[in-house]
Parts: sequence; structure tokens; C-alpha cells
Amino acid sequence: MPKMKIGVFDSGLGGLFVMRALAQKLPRYDYVYLGDTARVPYGNRSPQVVHQFLEEAVDFLFKRGCGLVIVACNTASAEALRKIQQDYLPKHYPSRRVLGVIIPTVEEALAGKSRGAANAPSIRRLGVLATQGTVRSGTYAREAQKLAPHIKVFQSAAPLLVPLIENGGTKWAEPIVREYLAPLRRAKAQKIILGCTHYPALKDMIRKLSGAPVVSQDELIQRKLADYLARHPEIDSRLGKTGKRELLVTDITPGYERLARKWFGKNARLKKVAL
Ligand code: DGL
Repeated sequence: MPKMKIGVFDSGLGGLFVMRALAQKLPRYDYVYLGDTARVPYGNRSPQVVHQFLEEAVDFLFKRGCGLVIVACNTASAEALRKIQQDYLPKHYPSRRVLGVIIPTVEEALAGKSRGAANAPSIRRLGVLATQGTVRSGTYAREAQKLAPHIKVFQSAAPLLVPLIENGGTKWAEPIVREYLAPLRRAKAQKIILGCTHYPALKDMIRKLSGAPVVSQDELIQRKLADYLARHPEIDSRLGKTGKRELLVTDITPGYERLARKWFGKNARLKKVAL
């Protein structure tokens, strides 16, 4: 049987931060990145539409030979992943896997000093900065409360950050970031999750302004994936390990090509596909 690849899916190019970390820290695996640049952003769409888009993307990646898909997009993980895992996978691809980013991120945020004792975390007030869709879904709060029933989760929706980042406007971001962080600071959040693929682009600024430690997915997903593959040798053994990378998008513009080079390195080459 031919070896399979790891798919990394995002609504756009922000997932390249996670993809870059995976390619650097777990370089042997073969990866296919898919960014739905023709339809980004997902963050202000309805859950039904996000679900439809995610199913199309997962289906595409499986047909392209992925054995495992990581949904780097927080909005899609929050609004549609469960349904894909419960309905679509068992029916169409029972031996493949689709993993999201929300549970590993919450585990990381709650671990800290009390690592290994998720039911008695040292933090009681968790902040989440995310898109409107992710905030509205309440998924971060639900998952955090499953691990730590007494935790209070404070969320702030930051709808202006993705367009600002995508359009090269990070130098104007500071007053906007301050505004979005204000409710989390007022709530005295003890950690702040960056619950969106794009926010690592503003990580240093957010760290400076947040008043609390910041949990960023480009610093943890590679470790969580390595743990997962070590616990699931039956999946790991089916994955190709020749270091291949493919960056696929549903629309290409000079702006997207620039962003891909900025976030993934000067050799980043985008290829257009239709879902
Ligand atoms: N990828 C999305 C996320 O992580 C952000 C961009 C969008 O709104 O589609 O939530």
C-alpha cells in the first residue's frame, strides 16, 4: 500500500505557521497543506457553511492520499470538526483520522506547572482571543471545563485582526490589539490562548500587551502531534517519511504568494487546486 501524507488544513494561509513548525520539528513526514484562500475568512460565516467547506477540504485531502488531516483552522475545528469525526469519517474513511487544534491547545494552557494534573490546574481564569465564529461556538470554554470544571473562560472576538494581518497591516495593529485584550485583562485572565491560525503573526505584540502568558499553537501542535503518533503506531507506520511538502490553495494572487514566502520561507511555491 502506498504511504500516506499528513494533511494540514486552514481556511487561508495563517495555518502556514503551524505547517512551518511541523515541517521544522517533524521534518521526516510528507505534508500537504491546503488553504481555502478562495473562501477565506471562515470566521464570520455560519456553522453550516463552515461544516460544508471543511467536509469538502477533508474529502479533497483524503483523495490526495492523506492518512491524517490536522485542521489548523480554529474556526473549522470549533464549529465543524466533531460532526466530521462522528458522521463523515466512519461512513467514508473509517481508518483515517482528522484532528483539531482546540483540545491540544486547552490541554497545554491548563498544564503549565500542574502538568499531568489536568483536574487540578493552577489557573482558574483562562482567556481566549479568537474569531467571532470560534467565540460564538463556545468550544474553547466547553473543552476547558471538561478538563477543569471550575475554570472560568473569558473570550474576546477579534474580527479585525485576520484582515489586518493578511493585508500587511500589522504595524497599525497595536491600538486594536489593546482594545481586544482589554476584556481579558479586566477579567484577570492568567493565560491567554491565541485561538486563531493567524495570530502568531502578532505574537510578540500580544505577549507585550497581554499582561499574562500567551499560548500559541505554532509552539505546541508539533509536540502534540509527535505524542499522538507515538501513541498510535498503527497510523504512524502508514505515513510516508520522505520529507515531501506541497502547498495547495484554492486561489492564488501576488499577495498570497508574498504571504506564503513571508510565513513559510522564500522557496514556498503555491499551487492552485479546485475542491
Ligand atoms: N483560520 C481561521 C481560524 O483559525 C482564521 C481566518 C478565518 O476567519 O478564516 O480561526
